[in-house]
Amino acid sequence: MLEHIIELTSTDLDVSEVSQRVAALVTAATKSDVCFVHLVDEELRRVVLAGATPPFDEQVGSVALALGEGIAGWVAKHAQPAIVPNKWEDSRYRYIPELRGQDFTSMVSVPMLVRGRVVGVLNVHSRAARRYGDDDLLLLTQVANLMARAIENARLYRRLAEREDLLERFATRTVEAQELERRRLAGEIHDGISQRLVSLWYHLLAAEDLLGEPDGLRRELGTAKELATAALAEARAAITGLRPFVLDDLGLGPGLESLGRSLGGLEVEVDVDAVELPPHVEVALYRIAQEALQNVVKHAAATTVLVHLSAGEEGVRLIVSDDGCGFDIDAVDAGEDRHAYGLVGIRERAELIGAGLTLASRPGTGTTLEVVVPPSPPALDRAVPRSS
Ligand SMILES: Nc1ncnc2c1ncn2[C@@H]1O[C@H](COP(=O)(O)OP(=O)(O)OP(=O)(O)O)[C@@H](O)[C@H]1O
Ligand SMILES: [Mg+2]
Repeated sequence: MLEHIIELTSTDLDVSEVSQRVAALVTAATKSDVCFVHLVDEELRRVVLAGATPPFDEQVGSVALALGEGIAGWVAKHAQPAIVPNKWEDSRYRYIPELRGQDFTSMVSVPMLVRGRVVGVLNVHSRAARRYGDDDLLLLTQVANLMARAIENARLYRRLAEREDLLERFATRTVEAQELERRRLAGEIHDGISQRLVSLWYHLLAAEDLLGEPDGLRRELGTAKELATAALAEARAAITGLRPFVLDDLGLGPGLESLGRSLGGLEVEVDVDAVELPPHVEVALYRIAQEALQNVVKHAAATTVLVHLSAGEEGVRLIVSDDGCGFDIDAVDAGEDRHAYGLVGIRERAELIGAGLTLASRPGTGTTLEVVVPPSPPALDRAVPRSS
């Protein structure tokens, strides 16, 4: 029977299908009349019926108990099994009409544990009064733990798949952005720098012809010098924005200060602590601040913007806060502005470095963006599982 369960829990059937089949096997193995598999919903702090032997399989998804409520809720809360010879004499018992509590007398309930965390509860019930023994308890505990691992694996797998999806989208967007950037550069080189170099060449040619005429020569050389200066300025402009050089030269704090100084038309208050971060996290924070500040300039009509960078117990915190017009975040999220990539990019960058992001804004109250990079990126096994 355990072999069957191992086989079942290592298939890629979904959790409810596995619960369903495990329920049937467990009922037979423990000579019980019915088996229920409840899964913990951590978000809503309750256990939800995920599998049962017929006819109760119809109730899957619709029967739930709060953590601590009823025997299954008690087992989930305390992470301990309960052997109940007569549930009517047990004060923890709660009658659930849909599960026809009146038809059953004895039960045993065990937690499904994975690394000390309860992910579900496995219950068997019998009509006649009976005393479930240690053998039953042992068997149920083994089955419960096998299931717990399968459920956990399914969750980790889902989380990995989500991350992979995100990375893929990010990679696509990066390639698109690179393409755009290349086109921008090509345009700038073609229309600006190359044109000026061509003119420069003509003026040098003309200067050559005027070697005997000092006035004309001086005039042509003067123009040639101006063209060389302009071409140089354009070359500089074309390469700014390609890479935040300032990070390599100065680090994140001074980089943010220089970003602040480059904004015109409003008061920028930059307050930065020295922080230690890996280079890719620095670039992500710098780009997030850059986009947030561009948004302030473009949309906020603010008089002041604050940029704070600080290190604390929770990690490194970046705040960009303006006193401008604010906006309706839900409306922007729901909107279909396919050309607005700024906030999407900010969210993706934060997610990729494992940082928490909060964006707070309301029309008329300004906008505050806060990014917190935890001391070490959250490991997958500490990620909060989604409700099942
Ligand atoms: N600080 C802010 N103050 C007021 N409105 C803002 C602010 N930041 C963002 N918004 C609003 O949110 C919208 C979406 O911002 P987002 O950065 O995604 O796009 P965008 O700035 O319009 O375009 P892009 O960043 O792609 O050039 C903006 O169009 C603007 O309406
Ligand atoms: Mg923007």
